[in-house]
Parts: sequence; structure tokens; C-alpha cells
Amino acid sequence: MKRLLCVINDDGAFAHACHADLRGWDVCLVESLSAARKLLAHQHYAVGLLLDHGDAGRDDETERFLRRHHHMRWVGVFDAPRLEQPALRELIATHLFDFHTRPVDMLRLRHSLGHAHGMAVLERGAGANRRPHTGGRIDGNSPAITRLRAQIAKIAAVDAPVLIAGESGSGKELAAQEVHARSQRASGPFVAINCAAVAPALIHSELFGHERGAFTGATRDKRGLLEAASGGSIFLDEIGDLPLDLQASLLRFLQERVIYRVGGTRTIPVDARVIAATHVDLPRAVAAGRFREDLYYRLSVFPIRVPPLRERKEDLPQLTELIFHKYAEERSPQLKGVSKEALQAMARYDWPGNVRELINRLRRAMVLAEHRLIMPEDLELPGAGPIGPIVDGLGSSRLSAERIAISDSLARSGNNISQAARELGVSRMTLYRLMAKHSISL
Ligand SMILES: Nc1ncnc2c1ncn2[C@@H]1O[C@H](COP(=O)(O)OP(=O)(O)OP(=O)(O)O)[C@@H](O)[C@H]1O
Ligand SMILES: [Mg+2]
Repeated sequence: MKRLLCVINDDGAFAHACHADLRGWDVCLVESLSAARKLLAHQHYAVGLLLDHGDAGRDDETERFLRRHHHMRWVGVFDAPRLEQPALRELIATHLFDFHTRPVDMLRLRHSLGHAHGMAVLERGAGANRRPHTGGRIDGNSPAITRLRAQIAKIAAVDAPVLIAGESGSGKELAAQEVHARSQRASGPFVAINCAAVAPALIHSELFGHERGAFTGATRDKRGLLEAASGGSIFLDEIGDLPLDLQASLLRFLQERVIYRVGGTRTIPVDARVIAATHVDLPRAVAAGRFREDLYYRLSVFPIRVPPLRERKEDLPQLTELIFHKYAEERSPQLKGVSKEALQAMARYDWPGNVRELINRLRRAMVLAEHRLIMPEDLELPGAGPIGPIVDGLGSSRLSAERIAISDSLARSGNNISQAARELGVSRMTLYRLMAKHSISL
């Protein structure tokens, strides 16, 4: 039986008539957009019928709703005079599969719902090997990623330190989370610290905690992150940046399973598994005397290498689709997908920033794209042609002033687009366009 979600926004009389008339359909009636939203959070419908209420004041809400549920095919029913409103016409053209005006010709309505259902079935067939996004999981079916997942499954079961190497943005943190989630410690905490982001003076007390009076400002005892990770795992990101004296303390912890807080004399037993990650070549750091050799050997019993994206380009279509759906709400309304040409251009590119770069480029293209499909130029892949106009003289100084103002504002706001847009007095959309024009990425 074909399933149909019917969202009523009118007096309901027509909906009930229509319910009786739609033989062959399993119809679920809901009384409002918010009821539909709740239902769609845990049920899947391929086709929806939207019975409009005739209240232009609520078109924005309807637009947001349709944008959120863009993967469904929607058929709308409206009062004919409403079609004179440009905003509504745009909403129909952008989001609806088909529309009807009252009084409704039931035969035509049945046809258009049947057609919508047929299209949905076709599309499902085309994407049969798609699996839903599991969120926070390592996606991809390339040999390289399949190997990585199998390796993680094995290593997770052994309660020993793990060292994850990989280029920036390749998914090291994701791999660490997966090791934790698949281990017997999964129900315990997963505590992460980026050793490169914490000032060297603070990192000791962050990791190991301190006793009251250990230094100026230490007014009370404080548990460190290692203690907080007891029963679970501690993720030491950018371990290559850990200062040498702390490397010694960490080694002692790995050997003896106890720690000293800063300023403390008693030992505290801590049961945490260390998962470390690095994007630098640790053996080279060892050779250069920046990383302790004994700690390196202790950590690298179970090394994991997360392959860069260029070694698993087969995963690009799947990752692209998952990212597209994940950020679907931000996309420009008419956008329906990614063109074959864009996928080909992506396959030719080497992705030095790996999956993070892929996410950033796609998200930006989804906002900026002006057609129904993302085209290669929307991705602004380096080496794929000139960007922006060539100007000189006054025009050029104006451009560079604009560019500097945007970069400064982004830097000040910590890359917060809304805040920077407010500061610059432009809309978020305009800021995205300006950033694209100047090739500024976050
Ligand atoms: N195989 C994958 N499937 C799905 N998402 C992925 C995959 N690999 C990475 N990501 C996503 O890419 C982004 C970067 O991943 P992550 O933070 O794990 O990388 P990283 O190697 O720790 O990067 P950095 O070196 O910059 O810290 C995250 O949003 C992550 O969810
Ligand atoms: Mg990381």
C-alpha cells in the first residue's frame, strides 16, 4: 500500500473527503505542521499532501518545513487567489512536486500523487545501496576505509594504548571515538584534549590535576582530565606537541597506572585507556629529539593510519551525499543535488584538507549554488580556473579593502559568520557571497 502523509492546514472538511476518496493509499492525517514535524522525526514518508490554510503570514513557516523535509515529494492544494502572491508562487516552484487549486479535481489529484509516488520509487531504486547517516560514524566503502574499520574493531577489543596517525581533517578523532565506542569501555567517559591548543604552562594541571596551593591561583584541589577519564578513554590529540617533561609523566602513567597531581605527593590510581593522535611524523620527531623514544614505543604497539581522502576517492560520492543531507537545511532552496560534472571534478582533486575540506567546500557550495545542481565552479577547487574579476587602480584597492575588512571581521569573531555579518552590516548570505568572491574559506 502506498503511504501518504496528509498535512492539514485548513478546516479539515476537505481533508476528510479526500481521505475517503484516496483508495489504494494508506493516509495518515495530521492537523498541523508541527504535528507533521514530530511524526517525520521517526517515520518515513515518500509523498506528502499539503492542504494550505490560506494565511500568507505563515508562508515562512511552511517554507522552513518544506525545506527541512525536502527529500519527500510534496503536492500542495491552495485557494486560487493565493497564487497571485509572488512569494507563494516561488515556494511552489521551489519545493513542490505539483499543486492544485480549490475546488480540487480528485481525479487529477490522484494522478499527481500517484506520479509523485512513482518518482520516489524510481529514485529509491537508483540509490539502493545508500545507507542512512549514522552520525559520528566512519563512512565509506573503499578498500582503505574497510581495512581501517576492520583494524579498529580488532584493536578496540584489546585494552592497550593506541596511536592514530593521519593528515589533518582525515578523521583521526572519529577513529578515536570509534575505538572507544567499540571497546569494553564504551559506557565510560571519552575525554578529549588537544595538546597543541592548551598553553604549555597549563597542560600539566589540565591533564594531571593539582592540589590546593600547588601554584598561585590553585585555591582548591582539582581533578585532571586523566582522572576524569577513569573507566573510559582519554584522547590526546596532537600528542607530538606534548612538552617533553609531560611526556615523562605520561610515560610513568602508562607504566604504573597511577598519577601525581601537580603539587601532590600521593599517587592516585587511574584506569583510563590512552588513545593518542598525531598529524606529524613521530619517528622523525623522535630522531630530532622532540619526542621521547620510550614513549613512542609504548604508544605505538597498536598504530592506526587513517588514509588521506585522495587514497579513497571511491568514497567521494557517498560522503558527498551524506554531507548534502546532513546540511540540507542550509542549502539554497532550489538546490536538489550535485552534478555529475562536479563529482568528476572532485575526483580529480587531491583534497589536501581531506574530509574536513570536503565538508567545508560542499557546505559553502550548497549555500552559494545558483542552479538546481552543484556545478564544478561552485566548489572553487584550486587549479580549476580563475576566480573573481581582474581589476586594477581604484577598483583593485577597493577590493583589497573589502577583502581585509572581511578577513579581519571573521578573525575577530572566531569565524562566526552571523557575528561577522552583523559587524559588517551585511546579511549572512551576502557575506558568504563576498567570501566566495575573495576566495576566503574558514
Ligand atoms: N570517513 C568519514 N565519514 C564521515 N565523516 C568523516 C569521515 N572522516 C572524517 N569525517 C568528518 O570530517 C571532519 C574531520 O574529522 P576529524 O575531526 O576526525 O579529523 P582529524 O583528523 O581529527 O582532523 P585534524 O587533524 O584537523 O584534527 C569531522 O567533521 C568528521 O566527522
Ligand atoms: Mg582532530
